[in-house]
Amino acid sequence: MRNSSLEDFQKYLCQTSPQPLGIEVERASGVYIFDRSGKAYLDFISGIGVANIGHGHRRVLEAISQQAKKHLHVMVYGEYVQEAQVKYARRLTGLAPVEDGVVFFCNSGAEAIEGALKTARKFTKRSKFVAFHGGYHGDTFGALSAMSSKYYRDAFEPLLPTFGFLDFDNLDALAQIDSTVAAVLVEPIQGEGGVRVPRPDFLPAVQRRCNETGALLICDEVMTGFGRTGKFFACEHWQAKPDIMCLAKALGGGLPLGAFIGRREIMRTLSENPPLSHVTTFGGHPLSCAAGLAATEVILDEKLMDRAARIGNDFLETLRGVFAGNQRVCDIRGLGCFFAIEFNDEAAAEKFVAACRQRGLIIGWTLHYTTIVRMAPPLVISHDELAQATEIIKSAIQEVK
Ligand SMILES: Cc1ncc(COP(=O)(O)O)c(C=O)c1O
Repeated sequence: MRNSSLEDFQKYLCQTSPQPLGIEVERASGVYIFDRSGKAYLDFISGIGVANIGHGHRRVLEAISQQAKKHLHVMVYGEYVQEAQVKYARRLTGLAPVEDGVVFFCNSGAEAIEGALKTARKFTKRSKFVAFHGGYHGDTFGALSAMSSKYYRDAFEPLLPTFGFLDFDNLDALAQIDSTVAAVLVEPIQGEGGVRVPRPDFLPAVQRRCNETGALLICDEVMTGFGRTGKFFACEHWQAKPDIMCLAKALGGGLPLGAFIGRREIMRTLSENPPLSHVTTFGGHPLSCAAGLAATEVILDEKLMDRAARIGNDFLETLRGVFAGNQRVCDIRGLGCFFAIEFNDEAAAEKFVAACRQRGLIIGWTLHYTTIVRMAPPLVISHDELAQATEIIKSAIQEVK
């Protein structure tokens, strides 16, 4: 069979945008993606928050190979004792700031959100949910219902009617959370909302209001987890202790995996009245669990969360220096290795992203704002590679003046 091409990609795969990036991937290794022509791209978005330890890490590949020799899928989730799942669940519950937590493995971030919402409703027997403007939690019906953006909702209405939306980072708005609310769903740092780092007292105030009203606190750490922001989980910056935490992306070390981790007493509800009311065939696939555990051990062994904090701080300063006095840029922000450059207009942001890509640096917009450019490099990125990215950024910005 002949090699697949961009033309075949457009012909045979459902297209999700009129202008896909269309890089023809040959292979990926460390912080680089290589295309068919051999051109190397620095992956400065980590495959959107997945490749926190870089692409194709040796320890992850070994773990996949070991597990593949033992078994692949053997049974739907929750029936057989599968060592890969059990080991990873043990590790995750030790890391997550969820008191006496247990893990439900699924396949993706959106599935983790769906599971968390269903569990919260079943446990509290309350119908309403609260989420925040600028949030993004995935594209299934329930997860999409948790996004306020009319732009993305309109074509799919009617969505779940029981969501209310509050302004992110606004303490006054929290009074609207009351005892009819099953759960409050929040990203500790909004990712697709433009890498918005809230004021230090925001998440503690959300937690306090949840405690006062009996609403569960669900933290969506799908994008912010696994060392990205300088702590293993972003909610640790503010000592939050969610009732349920949603994970995916870097959780699987490059393979598909999602999870929600909740307090045992809450999660118990899934096994009764009726039992089997939330199940999945492939959730917690043994290959994904083995890969995810190996990736997590790399993050811990190499203290990549501390590294993310250190190199992230330095790189933020570098970015501020590079863009100082640039009239097209209005803000540069971030935490750990999660950065945003905010442009005054869409055309400037678009030109900058294209100029970077042409020079071999992959960065991208955020879903909610075409003026905000996101950067989230692998946490293993070397100083030389960061210097290479800086030179590309300096050169690309010349096209935007
Ligand atoms: C914060 C957040 N939650 C949930 C999701 C959905 O994850 P998935 O694409 O795996 O369904 C995303 C995806 O970008 C996300 O950023």
